[in-house]
Formats: sequence, structure tokens, C-alpha cells
Amino acid sequence: MYNDNPTLTGLTKTIDEGKQGEVFFKEKTKPHQQAQSGQPEVGKHFYIESYGCQMNFSDSEIVGSILAGAGFSATRNMETADLILINTCSIREKAEANVRQRLRVFDKIKKQRPGTLIGVLGCMAERLKSKFLEEERLVDLVVGPDAYRDLPKLVAGAEEGDKGVNVFLSREETYADISPLRLGSNGVSAFISIMRGCDNMCSFCVVPYTRGRERSRDCFSIVAEAADLYNSGFREVTLLGQNVDSYKWENPETGEKTNFAKLLEMVANVHPDLRIRFSTSHPKDITDEVLHTMAAHENICNYIHLPIQSGNSRVLKLMNRTYDREWYMERVRSIYRIIPDCAISSDIITGFCTETEEEHQDTLSMIEWANYSMSYMFVYSERPGTLAQRKYEDDIPLEIKKRRLTEIVRLQNQVSFKQNQKDIGKTFKVLIEGDSKKSDQDFKGRNSQNKMIVFPKIKGYKPGDYVQVKVYGATSATLKGEMV
Ligand code: SAH
Ligand code: SF4
Ligand code: F3S
Repeated sequence: MYNDNPTLTGLTKTIDEGKQGEVFFKEKTKPHQQAQSGQPEVGKHFYIESYGCQMNFSDSEIVGSILAGAGFSATRNMETADLILINTCSIREKAEANVRQRLRVFDKIKKQRPGTLIGVLGCMAERLKSKFLEEERLVDLVVGPDAYRDLPKLVAGAEEGDKGVNVFLSREETYADISPLRLGSNGVSAFISIMRGCDNMCSFCVVPYTRGRERSRDCFSIVAEAADLYNSGFREVTLLGQNVDSYKWENPETGEKTNFAKLLEMVANVHPDLRIRFSTSHPKDITDEVLHTMAAHENICNYIHLPIQSGNSRVLKLMNRTYDREWYMERVRSIYRIIPDCAISSDIITGFCTETEEEHQDTLSMIEWANYSMSYMFVYSERPGTLAQRKYEDDIPLEIKKRRLTEIVRLQNQVSFKQNQKDIGKTFKVLIEGDSKKSDQDFKGRNSQNKMIVFPKIKGYKPGDYVQVKVYGATSATLKGEMV
């Protein structure tokens, strides 16, 4: 989900911070098509680009819904938009540099059409606050992740020439009552935010500062959203949070408590044909109860993203991850014991403060031992204000960080390739997501283990259908198969 590697591999799944963010538009209003058909576009339009993690993409859909309520419709054409928004990420320096680059493009549009408003949303807005307006003169709005309800008011103010900033971080906001506008969706898979913020203090990480305290969303609103999605044709939901395993919600009326395992079960019971995925699991919090719940429900996918960050206990301690190598290995053993065909993926940081060559070797050996299906791999990027920035020296030279990253990427590639080769000859239940990237003669879809499978289309089948696919070929990133 998050990647700014010099990519040696096809493992990067969705958003590459080095590339343009995804452009969202509202299918129903199709303002671009109205324009094409010669009719004038009516009403006000917003254009939004999103960067960073799935939470940000999910938030953009909440923003879309809030703006729709204020009379805006979405457009994929920034040239004609009245309001240009960029939902930003601060996780690494590179992510912020990309945002600055995009702002240069938006500046040009604003110079051509001076009435256009430019708004910066998300984590970078939260990190820089009103300083953003000093640094970026053409920006009109700076709105943090918990202040999106205030957007209509801030936009109205900006239309009158008042620049607006709201970066208030809330302890309660979960946007539970807002039904996200499914922007740019494939109509098959959707994200559901189940919690916001993070109470962990991993020493390298900026998220607790940009997203605030952890809070969980009302479980009934989550189940209702999943049911709505199923009824509108969606067949897969991904429950999102920075640390889903610490989900906890207490019913204010009955006092009844719901943990993540219980929530998973509730969502799984919406319909057997609705697949459930979730991200991200924290190794310190994932319980056997969650694993048993996964094993008990066929529609909860056998896939866990379990970021290790480093395979060495001393480095993990410096990172303040609050588990060590042995703890992590015990969790992985439990996963493979309780869900034998489960796939596990990871996030890895290379060259964290004081990391030695031997400690780097521990990360390499973990990739093989845990048999990750894939990993998101990064060089350590010091972030202002974090514990690591205040306490430790960022002392590993960039060339060494990058060389370690290359070794890690290469090994992960080999491990993925070997694992995928073992899938040859097996038949998987696949949910069709749409046309494959390379050919409209092929479908793409994923199996329960989250592996992408490409296979020739057969008449009568469409995205959202489940099919059985037998695998006959594999690279490190994709399986190739045929419907049976
Ligand atoms: N909540 C998730 C991670 C969210 S951030 C978790 O704890 O697993 C996504 C990933 O970005 C992290 O897992 C980490 O690998 C990476 N990351 C975070 N801060 C970073 C930094 N300062 N430099 C490099 N990578 C970082
Ligand atoms: Fe960052 Fe750690 Fe929270 Fe993940 S768990 S968002 S890495 S502080
Ligand atoms: Fe980036 Fe914020 Fe997500 S910093 S990774 S967009 S929580």
C-alpha cells in the first residue's frame, strides 16, 4: 500500500508515492461526459487526488460525501474543477516531496483560472498546519483528517477570500454516520474504516502526530455499511485501521464490549458471499481468538498483513514496537497452525538508526523463515518530531540503507517466486475484479491469500462473480490460470 522504493520488483501493489495519486470521480454525475456531450457542466465540481495509505483513500470518499452534501459533484478533470483537493501523506520525506510537486501543477491551473480553490487535506496538512499557508501561497485551505465535516464552511469562506485552516484532532470523530461516496470504485471491493488514529508510539512513525488518538467506530454502523455495500453489488470489504487488532467498542446503552474478533464475525455474517479482508494487524495485538474466527469463516480471507519492520530484537526495541523477534515468530507459528494455508505479508524498514550488518541479516533471515507472500520495503526516512528524530542519530548512510533495501527486495522476490511456483497446479476460488492491466481479453482477480491471478475471460462472467481458477504459471507478483 505504501511504497517509494527503487522498485526492483513487481511487488508494489497499489499506490507508489513516486507516481501520481489516484484520481477520483463520481460515476453517477459523470461531469466529464456531460462536457463531452456538448452540454455545459452545471453546479460546482471538486477534483481530488489521494496519496498514502488506504485510510487516506477511504477518507477521500468521506470527503466526497461531505462535499456532495454541500452541492459539489466530483470531476476527473482538474482543469474545470472549482475546487482542487489533494489528500496528503507524511510517512516519508519522499511522500511530502511528491505533494509539493503536485502543488506546482495546481498552481499553474490557479494562475489560468484565478477563482479555483486549492485545498490540502490529510496528514501533511495536520503536520504543517497553518505553516502550510506561509510556505504555499496559492493554497486556500488546510484541513486535517478529523476536520472534514468543516469543509463546506471552510470552502464557503475561501470563496469569499478567507483562507481556512482546521487541523483540530478529535478524540471521538469516526465519521460513522457518513456514507462514503465510492469514488473511482471497481464496484466489487470497498474499504470500510473501522477506527482512526494510533496510540502506539513506534519511534520512526509520524502517524500518531498526524492522526491523533486511537478511537473505534460503532460496530453496528460498520455492519450496516458492509450490508449496504453487499446490497449494491460489492463482494469484498477491507476493514481499515492502523492497528485493527486493538479495535474495541463499548455500547453506551448496554455496556457490551466488541473486540476485533467479534467485529470480524459480525461482518462475516452479513453474507457468505461477501469477502472480508483487514489491514493492518500489529504483531503485539493479534490474538488467537482472531485467528480462530478467521478459520471458522470461509469468507474471511486467509491473508494477514503483519508488518515486522525489523527482524532484530534490539532494533525492534529502539523502534518501540513492543515485541521482539521471538514474540513475532510465535505469532507466525500460531497463524500457520490455526490457518494452515494463510498468506502473511510484511512491512520492512532498512537502515534504522544504529542498525548493524548482523542485525540487517536478521531481517533477511526472517523473510525466509516467515515465508512472506510479499512485503512493502522502505529505507528509513527520519520524520520531524518523532521519538527517533529526537533521541537517535540517523546514522546509516543512504548508500548503505539502499544496498540493504536492494538485498531485502531481491530476497523477498525470490521467496515470493518460490511460493507462487508452489501454487502451480492448484485451483483457487477467485473473485473477479475486472479486466487485467495488460489485456481486455483477460480478467484479474484475487484468491483468498490476496494473490492476483490473471486468466482468460469466458462469456457470461463479470466482475463480482466468484470463479474457480486453476493455476498454470507464476511470476513473483502474479499467478496465471484458466477457469475450470
Ligand atoms: N500501522 C501500520 C503502519 C502504517 S505506516 C503498522 O504499524 O504496521 C506503513 C509503513 O510505513 C510502516 O509499516 C513502516 O514500514 C513504514 N514507515 C513508517 N514510518 C516510516 C519512516 N519514518 N521511514 C520509512 N518507513 C516508514
Ligand atoms: Fe505508526 Fe506504529 Fe501506529 Fe503503525 S502502529 S501507525 S507504525 S505508530
Ligand atoms: Fe501517510 Fe497518513 Fe497514511 S502519513 S501512510 S496517509 S496515516
